[in-house]
Amino acid sequence: MALPPTAPVDPVPTPAASTTYLLVGMSLREHAERERLDAAAATLHVPRDPDATAGVAFLQVGDPSLAAALTDLADAGVERVVLLGVSLGTLAPANSWLRRVAGHWWRERGEPGPDGVVPHRPVVEVATAMMRHESDLELGVLDVARAIHGREAPLHSDAWETVPAHRHQVLVCRGPRCSARGGDKVAEALATRLRDEGLGDDDVLVTQTACQFPCNQAPVVTVQPDDVWYGALGPDDVPELVAEHLVAGRPLERLRLVRRSAR
Ligand code: FES
Repeated sequence: MALPPTAPVDPVPTPAASTTYLLVGMSLREHAERERLDAAAATLHVPRDPDATAGVAFLQVGDPSLAAALTDLADAGVERVVLLGVSLGTLAPANSWLRRVAGHWWRERGEPGPDGVVPHRPVVEVATAMMRHESDLELGVLDVARAIHGREAPLHSDAWETVPAHRHQVLVCRGPRCSARGGDKVAEALATRLRDEGLGDDDVLVTQTACQFPCNQAPVVTVQPDDVWYGALGPDDVPELVAEHLVAGRPLERLRLVRRSAR
């Protein structure tokens, strides 16, 4: 006797591997242009990965940090994260910093928690190219990505053990008003000029900062330890600033701000 046909058994659905693409701002410039990154992530479409989601994180300064974003995605059960460095200006660190920071996170995520359980850790990949403009997303910037494996360079190095021997620290304000009035261009011009003059971190240490207070004088730049403040300093003033103050040691009086005495 023929057996009655058995009811078809639904195969256990295999969930599609969930992937999130993270656009990672590499410098202050991308933090200042957060809306552009958010818009690029909101419209990101990867044809071979149509169900993927996308988000934004920052290597430095902005929130969420890359490490925090990776933790949130891992805790949410995402199975694969692809990192794409975004540099809209000229001051971004090398793409290898994405691998270094992601590698550090990946190693730590592989450690057991207080309950002795190793938490879920997604595959993390880093695109080998960086996005310089939104149009790069159409030009295959995400085509090649290499997986993090945990053997990336550590965050610690003997080279970063001591305070550098710089003569001057230049603080370039990248607060909201200075950024709106060209602070980013000043920072880029300064980096270029110092490089052209062969001056490195042991000569002049450049630090971009949040608001330094006298916003009406934007863009503001401070030179320490000389306690000299400059206002309305544009990219065209940078060669003179470097030659006069940072090399010859003579503050540039025409752009110097009056410093109120401490009480
Ligand atoms: S934003 Fe630069 S001094 Fe305030």
